Amino acid sequence: MKKNADSTIKDAILVTGGAGFIGSNFIRYVFERTDYKGKIVNIDKLTYAANPANLQDISEKYKNRYFFEKTDICNYDAVMEIFKKYKITKVVHFAAESHVDRSILGPKAFIQTNIVGTFNLLEISRQYWNAQISIQNRSIFRFHHISTDEVYGSLGMKGLFTEKTAYDPHSPYSASKASSDHLARAYYHTYRLPVSISNCSNNYGPYQFPEKLIPLVIINALEGKSIPIYGDGKNVRDWLYVEDHCSAIWSILSNGKAGETYNIGGREEKTNFDVVNKICKILDRLHPARESKFSSYKDLITFVKDRPGHDRRYGIDPSKIENELGWKAEVDFDAGMRKTVEWYLANPRWIKNIKSGEYLKWIDKNYSKRQ
Ligand code: NAD
Ligand code: DAU
Repeated sequence: MKKNADSTIKDAILVTGGAGFIGSNFIRYVFERTDYKGKIVNIDKLTYAANPANLQDISEKYKNRYFFEKTDICNYDAVMEIFKKYKITKVVHFAAESHVDRSILGPKAFIQTNIVGTFNLLEISRQYWNAQISIQNRSIFRFHHISTDEVYGSLGMKGLFTEKTAYDPHSPYSASKASSDHLARAYYHTYRLPVSISNCSNNYGPYQFPEKLIPLVIINALEGKSIPIYGDGKNVRDWLYVEDHCSAIWSILSNGKAGETYNIGGREEKTNFDVVNKICKILDRLHPARESKFSSYKDLITFVKDRPGHDRRYGIDPSKIENELGWKAEVDFDAGMRKTVEWYLANPRWIKNIKSGEYLKWIDKNYSKRQ
């Protein structure tokens, strides 16, 4: 699903958090892989996780259609101004504090951005939708809220998360996302604001910040540092190549219904141990270790103290989006991992850049606590 039949130059999509991992991949995807003709306005507060350079080429290539506004989603007046200035027709809301470990060490920012920030955006959308959009055009407006499978809690050995699975979040991060999902749903039911929601499994791919498992492992390996695996390494995550997440969001925006929730996943459940081994194997082939202190990157694997409240298994049933919208993940885990490792190997400057800021300070302060 790559087309949006209704797209005109008058469309203006507001993307929040578009300087982060998935948001920047999504903006790139819409400009480069769909026939969208309108504008994209990226609002991002530029936290430690943001990197506006992710979109440097896009901002030059599409300078009449891509706009960046450094703004906090919690700032009502500034965001409302942006809605009016660009005549926003759709919102795709990615902006969030996204890292579970950080939410355990300091939940406050998660409550502020993920809950209060989402409330603020919903409220602005409602006011704007009521006051600024003609009655005929109201159904064209869409608020698409990006969420996570973590709101469903942890699975046992069997079963998958469906859209009907009861919410049971366990970390401050997932609790804040669950709360934002409830608010988004409430705005549809109470005010009929055209809201849709998607709950996606673990993403990986280019531009992912190296606090998350896959880029952390690649970069630590390349630097000859130990590769930390929490607990026994048997926790399971369901991995999706980021471009497939972007195409799923695009198909929801194009053909999904307001008031609906769609689970997104690639049917690629793996233990963390298997994921790490896979990365080491690819690196051993593409970039053999030259140091004599280890012969394979696997030698760097270190089991460390488990994450508190670590969810054991996630697994998404994506049947609804597959059957109703004809979406399907196109990149399998083997191909996606190869592309991802190749991307990090080809982009040492990006790595150097992103590691020169806040991330390093945070790792220095917190990493030793996990040993
Ligand atoms: P990320 O941490 O890479 O990016 C988040 C972006 O939001 C950053 O650019 C940051 O500067 C911005 N931001 C944070 N607070 C803000 C604020 N108050 N105002 C404006 N901008 C702010 O995150 P990601 O991994 O790209 O995740 C994006 C969204 O997708 C999140 O909502 C997350 O919950 C969801 N999600 C992520 C995954 C995953 O595997 N990464 C899976 C499912 C859902
Ligand atoms: O499931 C979707 C979620 O996936 C998103 O909502 C979150 O925003 C995203 O961060 C991700 O959460 P996880 O906690 O699953 O991702 P993370 O990469 O932090 O960890 C993946 C697994 O790897 C998890 O079981 C913890 C483990 N892990 C993680 C790190 C950083 C390790 O074993 N060692 C590590 O160093």
